[in-house]
Amino acid sequence: MTLIEQIAALRIEIDREIPLIDSAEAADRFRLRHLVKKGTVQSCVEGLRLVPREEKPLVGKALNELRTRAEDAYATAQARYEQKSETATLDLTLPPRGQRRGAVHPITQTIDRLVDIFTSMGFEVAEGPDVEDDTHNFGKLNFAPDHPARDMQDTFFVDNEDRADVLLRTHTSSVQVRVMESMKPPIRCIMPGRVYRNEAVSARSLAEFHQIEGLYIDKGVSMADLKGTIMAFARRFYDENATFRFRASYFPFTEPSCEIDMSCFLCKGEGCRICKHSGWLEICGAGMVHPSVLEASGIDPTEYSGFAFGFGVERVVLMLTGIDDIRLLYENDIRVLSQF
Ligand code: DAH
Repeated sequence: MTLIEQIAALRIEIDREIPLIDSAEAADRFRLRHLVKKGTVQSCVEGLRLVPREEKPLVGKALNELRTRAEDAYATAQARYEQKSETATLDLTLPPRGQRRGAVHPITQTIDRLVDIFTSMGFEVAEGPDVEDDTHNFGKLNFAPDHPARDMQDTFFVDNEDRADVLLRTHTSSVQVRVMESMKPPIRCIMPGRVYRNEAVSARSLAEFHQIEGLYIDKGVSMADLKGTIMAFARRFYDENATFRFRASYFPFTEPSCEIDMSCFLCKGEGCRICKHSGWLEICGAGMVHPSVLEASGIDPTEYSGFAFGFGVERVVLMLTGIDDIRLLYENDIRVLSQF
């Protein structure tokens, strides 16, 4: 092959390679192959010595053109790819994007605050399963077998081939039973958790929400202890000057039972949107643990007594924030969440 033929072949090769250079590394490979001292172009230059003198101008011209072509292609590729990676990491003229920080969800924040106050009063945290059986959710809590709360309307039952009594707990009171079964008095427990009810979702109710349950069992526990505990808690949590109202109520698992109201922390009893113009806010259901409930879980009611209380966490959040649609707490709308 004469030198002019070699140059022509190399030119075809280089022309084929140029469009394939797609990165800084490929450009460098191209340079090392063609443009260094021992590269293809230089080896042709060396062959120039042997070319007859009259052919030299022509061959030399072809070789120069080829070298320029290869050098230009390399310079272009190098500029393109090196510039690209610099822009990606180092364009200081771009406006900053800022950092968005997440935050703890308002429901979790509220549970944390509630738990903090009760643990500082000597309560410990206990948990139980969300998927429960009828015995822990109802039976041992003194719900009569035909109690309407067991009705399909309220309870989500879990499909199970072997058992018909598996359900999603409808309240955290089921955890009371588990605690009493597994611990010996004195018992002082606070039990936060998720509960489930077959209810239509609306501005006021959800099918899935949170409750916090409290239980205190020891010798000689009385209604006065219940009142003292709830009042101390509510004064720390809501309003240190709050006044209270204990209304008689009914729950199967407590006797006597009550519902506890507190003077509205916002209007101080005058009447406002938060308290629906009554001046009072309901804070929880409570009562003295029914002797049958103690007995069903292996605690002797002639020796021990206790109180229990329970309240809904979402309602607390609504009360504190003035949000009037409970669904807003679950839509994960950043405009709502970023306010907490
Ligand atoms: N379990 C009740 C409910 O879901 C709330 C409740 C009321 C819990 C009174 C208690 C209690 O421990 O003593 O509505």
